[in-house]
Formats: sequence, C-alpha cells, structure tokens
Amino acid sequence: MEKSIFGTLSSGAQVHAYLLKNSNVEVTLLDYGATVQSLKYKGVDVVLGYKDIKQYESGDDYLGAVIGRVANRIKGASFTLNKKKYSLYANDGKNTLHGGKNGFNAYVWEVENYTETEIKFKRLSPAKEEGFSGNLLVGVRYYLTEKGLGIEYTAVSDADTVVNLTNHTYFNLNGDETAENMFLKINADYYTPIDKNLIPTGEVLPVKDTPMDFNWAKFVGKDIEEEFEQLELAGGYDHNYVIKGDGFRECAVLSSGRKNILMRCFTDREGVQFYSGNFLKGEMGKDGYEYKKRYGVCLETQSFPNAVNEKAFKSPVLKKDEVYKTVTEYRFEDFLPVE
Ligand code: BGC
Repeated sequence: MEKSIFGTLSSGAQVHAYLLKNSNVEVTLLDYGATVQSLKYKGVDVVLGYKDIKQYESGDDYLGAVIGRVANRIKGASFTLNKKKYSLYANDGKNTLHGGKNGFNAYVWEVENYTETEIKFKRLSPAKEEGFSGNLLVGVRYYLTEKGLGIEYTAVSDADTVVNLTNHTYFNLNGDETAENMFLKINADYYTPIDKNLIPTGEVLPVKDTPMDFNWAKFVGKDIEEEFEQLELAGGYDHNYVIKGDGFRECAVLSSGRKNILMRCFTDREGVQFYSGNFLKGEMGKDGYEYKKRYGVCLETQSFPNAVNEKAFKSPVLKKDEVYKTVTEYRFEDFLPVE
C-alpha cells in the first residue's frame, strides 16, 4: 500500500495520492475529487491526468474526477421536485454543468478504507449545497479486477433529491497526440440528440445510417467532421447513448492498434455520454504531452442528461432513505489486430 502527498490546494489543504496495484493494473487515485490520476495496464498509462494539483484546481476539464451531484447539464439551472422549485448555480451559460460551481470534483474526499486493491472514498454533501435538497452521503469505491478498474457508487439522502454520479476519465489507449485513431464500438441503437446548448431535446433517435452509429467499431474520427447537425452543434461527439439491454452489461469497447490494448466498459446504467474531448485546450499533461482538442475520450456512464426536467427520460430522483447503488467497470485485454 502506498499513500503519498500529491500537493497542497490554495486553501492549504493537503491532497493525497493512493496507489492500487495487482499484476496487470496500477491505478493512482487522488482524494481531491476522488480522481483517477493514472491507470496503467501492463505499464501503459491509458488515461489523461496532471502532475500538479494546481491544474486540477483551476482546470475545467474534470480530468478523471467523480462528477456529482448531477452529471452533465440541467436546463435553466432549475428543476421542480415534489412541487417545489429548486434553483441551482448556472456555471454553463444559463445551465448547470457537472454539479454546479463546486461539484464533487472540487472537494477533498475522506478515505473510509484502503487496501492494496481497493479504496473507498466518502463525502457528505450537505443539504442546499449548490441548491440541491437533502444531506447526501456518497461513497465511491474503486476496486481492481484481474485486468481492470471497477467503480461502485452509493448514496443515501435524508430528503428526496436528484443524483446522477459518474466518472470523467479521458482515455487515450495509444498515449499520444489524438484519440481520433482509436476504434470505438458503442452498444446502442439510439441516442438523445442535443440542442445548441448541448442539452437533450427530449427525443430519442436511431443512430442507424448516421455518423452517430458505433454499432460496428470504427475510428473515433472516421465521421467526426461530417456535415451532420448533431456533430456540428457539439464540435464532435458529446452525446448520450441509450445502452442496449439492461442489468450489468457491456456498453462500449475502445481499442488501440498501436499499443494492442482493448478496453471494455461494463455498466448497469441506462446511458453513456460519449464525449470526444472537443473542448480540451492544450493543457500540459502529466507525461509532458499537451492535451489538445480530442486528445482523449470519455465514456461517462450515467442517467440521461437533464432527466430531472424531461418526463420521457427515466427519473434521476433519489427518494429519502432509498439506497442509490450503481457499478461501472473498465476491463482491459490484449488486442491483437488481424494481420
Ligand atoms: C460534457 C461536455 C463538457 C465536458 C467538460 C462532458 O461530460 O458532455 O459537454 O464540456 O464534460 O469537460
């Protein structure tokens, strides 16, 4: 077990790094944001991260962090629950993004337990934080599988509230220049189209015969510049896909020909936000690479964005004393391309 000091926040608080390790996988996690700072499969670091805590503090790319209370956007920074209107902090134009002004990514989490292969972070998000109701006790347990990383999220509230937790890790299995040359498959026949503020319109449309279709693996960049309104609105992919089936199942597969690594994402969630890193601006990464536009891609398993305001979407409301529990795993294997 290795615990070390990663850095000091502007508030003076110390941030620690924790290492999880088995014979295939090595993961460094920060208590700041319960963040995945590094994830190595057979020695290759496949995620984006910073060396300096100041970058985590000032950046707005949410690298590797846990996102809460509510991932993605809430339209008009407000919603109605039990006939009461809640107003949130608008940090993305008139809307709320990734929890508000200070989302779960911007807090130092407590460590409840830590072994060589798992760690559980917890945090109490007080009632009224960012405008949400209920004192919410949140747990995020990261655990190693034989060849991967699992994330189990739990939460319970003392009043009805809204919860949609995810992790914002950017993957680049090649570890260089761009994520556009990775292969991606997403197990989804439908997606939720967005408006000009990147908020779902409420429709659920088929991906068939559009550049949104990833049912057959293709390069991330293959169709990304096509003249297709949905891609133009977001400057690439930034869309919620409706994962086929239900229960704990495979939702997407990402692979790198160059490093012969394949990653399967499994989840019990109904949606996955495929974000092709369109807003990355060239910040200096931990390995000396500049994280330019589309340097990494996120597969954020989640409830549908803005579901709290959209009757057609499954409700993200967590009732008082009910237990929220959901699991996502990123599993790696060796991928040998056909000669
Ligand atoms: C969203 C993007 C947003 C990004 C911030 C993603 O989850 O889908 O629209 O800009 O997070 O890093």
